[in-house]
Amino acid sequence: MNDGSSAVAASPPPAQPAGVLDVRSVTVRFGGLTALDEVSLTAAPRQVTGIIGPNGAGKTTLLNVLCGFVRPDSGEVSLGGSRLTGLPTHRLASLGIARTLQGVGLFRGLTVLENVMAGATCHARAGFWPGLLGITRSDRDERALRERSLAALDRVGAAELAGRMPDQLPYGMRKRAALARALVAEPKVLLLDEPASGLSEAELPELGELITRLAAAASVVVVEHRMDLMMSVCEAIAVLDFGRLIAHGTPDQVQADPAVTAAYLGTNGENGPDGETGLNVETAPDGHPSPDAEGGETPGD
Ligand SMILES: Nc1ncnc2c1ncn2[C@@H]1O[C@H](COP(=O)(O)OP(=O)(O)OP(=O)(O)O)[C@@H](O)[C@H]1O
Ligand SMILES: [Mg+2]
Repeated sequence: MNDGSSAVAASPPPAQPAGVLDVRSVTVRFGGLTALDEVSLTAAPRQVTGIIGPNGAGKTTLLNVLCGFVRPDSGEVSLGGSRLTGLPTHRLASLGIARTLQGVGLFRGLTVLENVMAGATCHARAGFWPGLLGITRSDRDERALRERSLAALDRVGAAELAGRMPDQLPYGMRKRAALARALVAEPKVLLLDEPASGLSEAELPELGELITRLAAAASVVVVEHRMDLMMSVCEAIAVLDFGRLIAHGTPDQVQADPAVTAAYLGTNGENGPDGETGLNVETAPDGHPSPDAEGGETPGD
C-alpha cells in the first residue's frame, strides 16, 4: 500500500523562504514501532496545511515533533531556515510555535481568562505563575497580558466566557478557549490537533472560517479527520499512513489519489468501491471515532 508512488514531496528544495516550516526526513520510533518514517513536507506562511490519515498514522506525533514534545530519532525541522530540532518546548514557543491538544487540555481550577493568560507566559515580562503564587510583578504587564488574552478570546468568538470555569462550558466553547490560549502568544506557526472533534456538523462552517482567518497571521497546520472541513480550508494536504507520507498536494490532488483511498479503506488495491478512487468528503473515514465519542473528553486531558 505504501509504495511511495503517489505525489510525495520527498525532497523539498534546500533553501526555504522566510517563514516556511520545513520538515525534512523526520523519523520517530517508539520502541519497535516507527510512528514517523522519513517524513518530509513544508508548510507555507499564511496558508492552512492539513495533515490527514487513518487512526495511528502518526499525525499527532508529527505535531509533537513540531512543538518539541517529541524529539525525532533523525531528521530536521526548521522555520524560515532556522533549525528547530532539539530545542526545548518553551524555546519553540518563544520562537512562535503554538499548538492545541487533541483533547481540550484546559486547567479545571482556572477561569477561561486565566487559562488563556497561561498560554502567554513565555512572552510576558512578568510571569503568570509568579502572579498566581502571589509574587510581586508589574501591574502594567499583567494588565497588558489580560488585554491580549481578552483579545484572543474575542478572536475566537468567546470573549463572554472570560470569567467562566471550563467545567461549566459546552465542549465546543472549551475548545475555543483552548484555541485562544494558543493564539495569545501571537504565534507564527499554529498547530491544531483535531479542532473539530466533538463539534456538531452545524459548528463546522464557523470553525472553517475561523481557521481561514487565523491563517492571515500565521502558518496553520491542522490535523483533522473531518474531510469536508479539511477540503474546504486547506491549501495543501499531507497524508500519512503508518508513519509514511503517502501523498502531499492540493485537496483535489489528494482526494483523487488512489493511494489515499486505499489507505483509508485499509485495502492494498488501487480502487475503492465501484472503482472510485476519490476520498468521500461527505463522511468521516472508516475507523474514525465519531464526534460524539470524542465529545465526552474531560478538560485537563
Ligand atoms: N508516546 C508514545 N509511546 C508509544 N507509542 C506511541 C506514543 N505516541 C504515539 N504512539 C504510537 O505511534 C503511532 C502514531 O500515533 P499518533 O498518536 O501520532 O497517531 P494519530 O495519527 O494522531 O492517530 P489518531 O487519529 O488516532 O489521533 C500509534 O501507533 C501510537 O500508538
Ligand atoms: Mg492524533
